[in-house]
Amino acid sequence: MYEQVSHSLLNAILDDLKPEIRRQDLRHFYTRLGANFYAIYSLFFKLYGHRDDFKQQMLKLVETMAKGYIDRSAELEQIDIQREKDHNWFLSQKWVGKALYTTGFAENLADLADKTGYFQELGINMVHIMPILMCPSGKSDGGYAVSDFRQIDDRIGGLDDIRRVAEEFRKRDILLVLDIVLNHTSDEHEWARKAINGERRYQDYYYIFENREIPDMFEQAMPEIFPESDPGNFTWNADMQKWVMTVFHHYQWDLNYSNPEVFIEMLDIILFWANQGVDVLRLDAVAFLWKQIGSSCQNERNAHLILQLMKDCCQVTAPGVLFIAEAIVAPVEVIKYFGEDAIIAKECEIAYNATLMALLWDGIATKNTKLLYQGVKNLPAKLERATWLNYVRCHDDIGFGFDDYDVRAAGYEPFAHRKFLIDYFSGQFEESTARGMVFMRNEATGDARICGSLASLAGLESAMEKDDPELILMAINKILLLHSLIMSFGGIPLLYNGDAIGVVNDYSYQDDTSKSSDNRWIHRPKINWERAELRKKQGTVEYTLFNALKKMIAIRKETSAFADFNNRELLDVKNEHLLCFIRFNHERPSERVLVVANFDANPQYLDLDVISTKGINAYAQFIDLYSGNKPAQFDRRIVLQAHQFYWLSEL
Ligand code: GLC
Ligand code: GLC
Repeated sequence: MYEQVSHSLLNAILDDLKPEIRRQDLRHFYTRLGANFYAIYSLFFKLYGHRDDFKQQMLKLVETMAKGYIDRSAELEQIDIQREKDHNWFLSQKWVGKALYTTGFAENLADLADKTGYFQELGINMVHIMPILMCPSGKSDGGYAVSDFRQIDDRIGGLDDIRRVAEEFRKRDILLVLDIVLNHTSDEHEWARKAINGERRYQDYYYIFENREIPDMFEQAMPEIFPESDPGNFTWNADMQKWVMTVFHHYQWDLNYSNPEVFIEMLDIILFWANQGVDVLRLDAVAFLWKQIGSSCQNERNAHLILQLMKDCCQVTAPGVLFIAEAIVAPVEVIKYFGEDAIIAKECEIAYNATLMALLWDGIATKNTKLLYQGVKNLPAKLERATWLNYVRCHDDIGFGFDDYDVRAAGYEPFAHRKFLIDYFSGQFEESTARGMVFMRNEATGDARICGSLASLAGLESAMEKDDPELILMAINKILLLHSLIMSFGGIPLLYNGDAIGVVNDYSYQDDTSKSSDNRWIHRPKINWERAELRKKQGTVEYTLFNALKKMIAIRKETSAFADFNNRELLDVKNEHLLCFIRFNHERPSERVLVVANFDANPQYLDLDVISTKGINAYAQFIDLYSGNKPAQFDRRIVLQAHQFYWLSEL
């Protein structure tokens, strides 16, 4: 029944399409629209069917997709077709990512294009260039408060430059990832300015209220994201004499997706960037897309429907383009951003694995894997054709958002354990070598997060200050241990700018008033290329780290068991300092790799008898794929040094 309604509506819409659209050759567009239309219609109807202008909006939606398709270059369409044929292409182990700010890595976009060789030297073939669009200076949230979604910040370049970057990348088989900040705009965006000028149409793009009545109701259940710098979720606008919902900073206005015009505008922007040659779009803060009084306004069901609709629409116009969900939420919630069903309700193909990230840091602080093991064991199974973005550090803070159930199962009391982690990484805990900073302590809830560069959190900064070779080596080994796990876990590893050469905290943000209230800037460094040259000089920290990571990346790419086809088995090895899992080739399960990582500062051993029930021969001989050596073995045990890892293959 619904299908018939949708067919007749589709026919009516096709009749009504603007003549300039109808005159184009839209063969592939029509096949994809036909295949996806029922889902698109049903979702759009669920979200907006109650509105009088539903049909008009539906027509506008189809026109937006058609216009996007007409603008798509022949070259990009060829890539679409090729990726449709090889639709699991991104699950391969061959991809290794890196995230960076343009000016943290290069002078500008043109210079970044010239530095592409660096990515190839390390083996990186997916580059997330952090936000590049216009933002008001001093109110930019590091690029996440966009004032024009189609204009690049002129200090770093223009559209021609990003197209050149895209071309340069495509020549070298490197994927380009850019952000789409879906949840909010800057208060200086044209829509916000028009709203401030009293235009009703644009006030409806946001959540704007006459008085505190509704905001107060919302506040009862909404947590605060930046309680220290931006308490509350609403901001008074004196020009309008109204309250605006601003979940993040006071200058970031939340978009109102209960208005179909907002959805269509943002889809148009997605397709615009897809057509500039972007391969993967990182959808920022997706958990926040739907607001509902009485809820935390995160992970709402309708937020998922919006993402499903975005995916279906993007599939029609630019099917080769993937979405990354940036949803830093509990494991049971993150998993939903892949979609509920790979065919009828897909969302984002890739999602940040914030759970693994936080668990890995827990392992570093506690020197054991009790919580890491629990957390990985209880990570919900994900859909096929979905993969993790596994990372150790990124441009944001670290939140210890593990499941309390797992924390208890590991033998800790959740509140006290989180306090320990905050103390450990902010260096308050006596034995700690970490140099991090507390981010956004919330006095009311006791909650806090951590900032700091990977190297500083792993102890490299304090070790270098002490000029202690042993401590320096220990920090290096921790950094490699963490990377060995994101490279082998299953998913796309995402390195962060500077981590391959051990860049420590950058304290210069403290002297910049536009940054000093946000200590995430401590870990958003500018690469010093003279120092980076040391990666070529044997005996330096830069050399050791860079070359070890380069080797790890090369070996990952050759190891088919590291592709992500839900082909990982976690092992309980009865040694609380080790994390151990088997990765196997999903087509040839006998091709497998035993990954084992020692989080302790002392040597530990892996008892092969314990895992012999898992089909591992206790008498087998192994080779470590990473070092090429046979691991030290005695009495059916494999020995690991402090913070050592192995990628073992049976001989
Ligand atoms: C995402 C970004 C973060 C930003 C926030 C608001 O979480 O990663 O940097 O502050 O969204 O846009
Ligand atoms: C993100 C996350 C939160 C993070 C914040 C800013 O969306 O929800 O963990 O702290 O935005 O970095």
